[in-house]
Amino acid sequence: MAEHCLVYLLLHVICILVSPIPGCHSRSCDKINAAFTVGDDNATYILSGTQFIKYSFVHDSEETVGGLSKLGLSPGLVKPDAAFTMNGAVHILKRCEIFRYRMSGEATFVKEGETTTHSLGLPCDVDAAISWAGHVLAFKGCNIWKYDVSTHQFEPEGPVEKRGLPCNLDAAVQWKSSGAIFVRGAQFWKFDTVMRGPFHTDELNICSWYLCGEADWMREKRVGNMSCNGDERLCPLRLDQVTMAGLHNAGSGYDEVGFGFLNCWLQNHALSINKQMKLGIRHLDIDPCYDTCGLLGTCHSFVCGGSICPIIKQVRSFLRDNKDEVVTINFNHEIVNPEKVFQGLNRQLQTQMGPLLNKKFRQSREKKWPTLGQSIRANKRVFVFYAPVIESSPHNKLYQRYKWIHSENFYGSTWRPFSVHYGCDEVVNLTAARCEVRKSRELVEVSIIPEKGGCIDNMAEKCRPFLHQALRACEGFRFERNDSPNVLLVDYPEVDSGATSSVFHAVYHQNVRNIHKHRSQSCRVKVNAAVRVSQEETLFFIGKKIIVYSHSRRAQVGVRDAPDLYNIDAAYGVPERNAVRIVKGCETWDVDATSLLPLSRERRALVTCNLDAAVVWLSQLHTFKGCNVTTEGSDPTPLVSWGLPCQLDAVLHSDGKLFVFRDNSYWKYTGKGVASLEGHTLDWTIDAVQCGNSNI
Ligand SMILES: *[C@@H]1O[C@H](CO)[C@@H](O)[C@H](O)[C@H]1NC(C)=O
Ligand SMILES: *[C@@H]1O[C@H](CO)[C@@H](O)[C@H](O)[C@H]1NC(C)=O
Ligand SMILES: *[C@@H]1O[C@H](CO)[C@@H](O)[C@H](O)[C@H]1NC(C)=O
Ligand SMILES: *[C@@H]1O[C@H](CO)[C@@H](O)[C@H](O)[C@H]1NC(C)=O
Repeated sequence: MAEHCLVYLLLHVICILVSPIPGCHSRSCDKINAAFTVGDDNATYILSGTQFIKYSFVHDSEETVGGLSKLGLSPGLVKPDAAFTMNGAVHILKRCEIFRYRMSGEATFVKEGETTTHSLGLPCDVDAAISWAGHVLAFKGCNIWKYDVSTHQFEPEGPVEKRGLPCNLDAAVQWKSSGAIFVRGAQFWKFDTVMRGPFHTDELNICSWYLCGEADWMREKRVGNMSCNGDERLCPLRLDQVTMAGLHNAGSGYDEVGFGFLNCWLQNHALSINKQMKLGIRHLDIDPCYDTCGLLGTCHSFVCGGSICPIIKQVRSFLRDNKDEVVTINFNHEIVNPEKVFQGLNRQLQTQMGPLLNKKFRQSREKKWPTLGQSIRANKRVFVFYAPVIESSPHNKLYQRYKWIHSENFYGSTWRPFSVHYGCDEVVNLTAARCEVRKSRELVEVSIIPEKGGCIDNMAEKCRPFLHQALRACEGFRFERNDSPNVLLVDYPEVDSGATSSVFHAVYHQNVRNIHKHRSQSCRVKVNAAVRVSQEETLFFIGKKIIVYSHSRRAQVGVRDAPDLYNIDAAYGVPERNAVRIVKGCETWDVDATSLLPLSRERRALVTCNLDAAVVWLSQLHTFKGCNVTTEGSDPTPLVSWGLPCQLDAVLHSDGKLFVFRDNSYWKYTGKGVASLEGHTLDWTIDAVQCGNSNI
């Protein structure tokens, strides 16, 4: 370890000394040297150093990657200058020479001859060349040459600026059926009918090479205040103690493309990965395969869901824009062709997001997952899982070598085939039973994936009302072991994503319970005050938050902020003024029940300071403090005569009954001197957990 650091430090120092440019990379970039299109197989060959990529426009993805010799090209053509196709022959330019190749068989070339650049009227060291729309153009410095079929010579064609291009291009090539791209360094320009750009070469969906431009932020440590997957209270929790919203068969139908009439059986979601992540997805479940969709794809039975490269890039750009987020990606057991997939995945993941991959768990002697906070501070925010065959020969060589690969065996899934013909109720008991069996796995995935009973979107809709219950059914088994359910896996999370039944809402409230369970030293459930402001809504005052609770949906539906109302002692309704009376310290004042703005500047002094709670019930004000309840105009009565404990947090009057909150318990009181303990405050599906400073 120490040696590694020293070497890294040394490299870094050398790097800074040698290169005064900010963002000096400790890793060399792959640079596109030349590219050409040949035949009518709609493929483009891109050359870099000793390597080539065959790019196919059918799936808009890489199709083959390898060394030049695999194409039949001479190894001497390392770092060629330029390439173009003319009369069916590929011309590769290097220094003052031109090597002519002809395609023989599928995707291999044989040498046909060679000549010099001078013999075609070109200088040595051409930068780039392209055959496009019946013309062949060559570029060097700031100039263009065009091939003249009558003289068989390249003739000067003017400066590159006239075409909207920069000087000193690296490569130029036909792109798709009618376009062309022009590459320089990490940038490219695109021509369809007009020249547009520059764009970053990253947008080309090339993942097997490292084309630079993204390295710096991936190596930066996170400084300053942070939140963790949207909530700073989650920072001290380990990966196995937090819950993430998971996307089943991620990539199957993404980017709004879909499978037409087959969507019923094959499409699992309809938005891009980036959009899913913006909605709150933090776990991707991917069925990887090779060849069906280009190099690496997501396969759903026999069809291609899409290429994996854009998924990796979308995850990365999301992580670039959201520095406090951690994701897990499971390239799961429904893998096809693992010997090729693992190689390809390793290459693409390391090239595209190597610095972000977290290997703490498999490196740690005690096999302990890092906390979200540690992972974000270190900027190691991606946890990758491979199908369990990674642990068997011959794949185990990779597994031993790369500690950032985790076996999918770490995940216990609750999945069991079930049908939703008569509804999805069954999933709750099924989850409980499966979670009990799987509880000692490192991580547990609660899987809400029915097998039968309709189209995928329809089945997802039937199951949505049970997401909260399914997590709750699992949590007890995991809490026993100081863990949590870790993934809630669903189809179509984007449908009704803002509703209380959504996967995001269920995961949020599971995380609230996770925080309460795993941080009992520093966090507690505490409702400062509760007041019903309408038939539909109750406001829960909790520290600095005012939570809007919906009675019809029986859950938190929003959060409001009003700095005047932080950490109040009590609140009760004054319906005739449409007001809420606020009680804090030794003062009381009224605010409008809708806007929460003060109705006047005046604040009145209280006879008794620092009340615990207050409520109007049977037209009389009741105040609570310590072990007493005082009805207006009467003497204090001990709370024990109501069957309640001392030091209450809040009392809510709702539908003629009182609901009494203290820590994570609540009671119902109907006036007969007997309060009944009803359950946990968090059963109201409100975020009532308050913590001390959690930033680490
Ligand atoms: C190549 O693309 C063209 C137009 O995009 C299409 O008509 C043709 O079928 C494609 N060829 C192959 C082999 O896919
Ligand atoms: C960090 O958080 C602390 C405590 O909440 C706050 O006082 C401070 O201003 C924050 N710093 C920044 C840079 O936001
Ligand atoms: C779930 O289990 C409970 C307790 O065993 C049982 O009462 C209930 O009927 C079951 N629900 C379903 C939908 O099977
Ligand atoms: C509760 O009421 C009793 C009797 O009036 C009084 O002696 C006691 O101080 C009160 N306790 C608190 C905490 O207000």
